[in-house]
Amino acid sequence: MTSECYVYIVLPGETEFVTAGRFRLRETTEGAEVGDFIYGRTYRERPNAVELDPVELRLQPGRYETAKMGGFFGAIRDAMPDAWGRKVIDRHVGGQMSQFGYLLRAPDDRAGALGFGLNTAPPFPENRFNRTLDLERLQQAADALIEGKPDLAGSAAEQAEDLLVLGGTSMGGARPKAVVEDNDALWIAKFARTDDGYNQPRTEHALLQLARHCGIDAADSRLTTVAARDVLLVRRFDRDQADEGYRRHRMVSAVTLLRTDDDPTTRRDWSYLLLADEVRRVSDAPQEDLRELYRRMVFNAAISNLDDHPRNHAILARGNGWRLSPAYDLTPFPVISQERALALDCGLYGRGAYKANLVSGHGRFMIDLEEAIEIFDNVVETVRNEWEPALRRAGVSQAECTQLGRAFVFEGLLYDGSRP
Ligand SMILES: Nc1ncnc2c1ncn2[C@@H]1O[C@H](COP(=O)(O)OP(=O)(O)OP(=O)(O)O)[C@@H](O)[C@H]1O
Ligand SMILES: [Mg+2]
Repeated sequence: MTSECYVYIVLPGETEFVTAGRFRLRETTEGAEVGDFIYGRTYRERPNAVELDPVELRLQPGRYETAKMGGFFGAIRDAMPDAWGRKVIDRHVGGQMSQFGYLLRAPDDRAGALGFGLNTAPPFPENRFNRTLDLERLQQAADALIEGKPDLAGSAAEQAEDLLVLGGTSMGGARPKAVVEDNDALWIAKFARTDDGYNQPRTEHALLQLARHCGIDAADSRLTTVAARDVLLVRRFDRDQADEGYRRHRMVSAVTLLRTDDDPTTRRDWSYLLLADEVRRVSDAPQEDLRELYRRMVFNAAISNLDDHPRNHAILARGNGWRLSPAYDLTPFPVISQERALALDCGLYGRGAYKANLVSGHGRFMIDLEEAIEIFDNVVETVRNEWEPALRRAGVSQAECTQLGRAFVFEGLLYDGSRP
């Protein structure tokens, strides 16, 4: 069986889609899925044409093929819904869909600048968004979906429809979310789950602030309250409002940069050092971006963000060139063990979140050992002094701080190889 669709893109500085090429997925006689993509000639001849990504789909004539990720090129997979969006779509159609089905069913609020459809001519981009006023309805629908309770605000299908039509479904990630418009910008609303265990929205907000204290370029965020519950609003950095609509910036995850997969069986390819190599190759400002990436890696270790998987890192093209995107999805894991591992290798000795390992790969970030140690010490000191005030300022309770405290600057982090 073969499925195919057109791939659209909003070019830098513009707000409407043009057709970039055609994506096709076919099953081989052995039952494997193979994807192919070809840029349209008209597209390639545009003076302002840009590549979909700087790794697999460089702007060249000819047909690209991939058998990875079920035949989905990284840049296309990055524009598709994840666990949350799929759940919503499943509920809406009353069953599970194929990957291709998710690609086409997802609404036009996906991360980055791409769109997909069956017509050669692109559609008009969706420019109407929910207001923060709609958040109560969205939160209720998200709750009902998670709890499998169809009777809170209409039928299950109606609620899924709310989420699907009203937005957020195409954004990746597993947590319930929606996209809303406020103050001339688009925000990802991340809802609390009733089974969270601590105040997730306030904590994530505090950590984005704490990251900024550490000199990290973190996504802009704020808190709001909807029906007596906290919701985190994270400003979308892949959209900017213009007079005639929204500009869309291309965005590619580290999954794509590393030519890997989400699946933890591909974990051997997950590495900050390899990511640094790729960033060095594609970034318009490699030195600055690598120093920033190094700082983020140390920060993730210092807050025990053990879920810093490759979809939680990205590069962004605000114009023609690529840069590291702002940091997002920063979550502390207050585990007991003093031996903690990040999701990616973070030094020459693997994933271990400890000083000797974290500073060991400094050369790959184009910094010398002295500077690596200085950044480590500086981030650790800031996190040590500021984590609690940052959480308290964001309204996290003292009891929750006590519960979360183990995540920050744990003893094992400081191991510098000098002790047995
Ligand atoms: N501020 C932002 N602007 C644009 N895109 C973003 C922003 N924040 C996150 N994203 C995109 O949305 C996806 C989901 O966001 P996020 O990682 O915060 O959600 P999550 O559900 O907590 O994820 P996870 O499943 O990793 O826990 C990210 O993988 C990224 O592609
Ligand atoms: Mg995430």
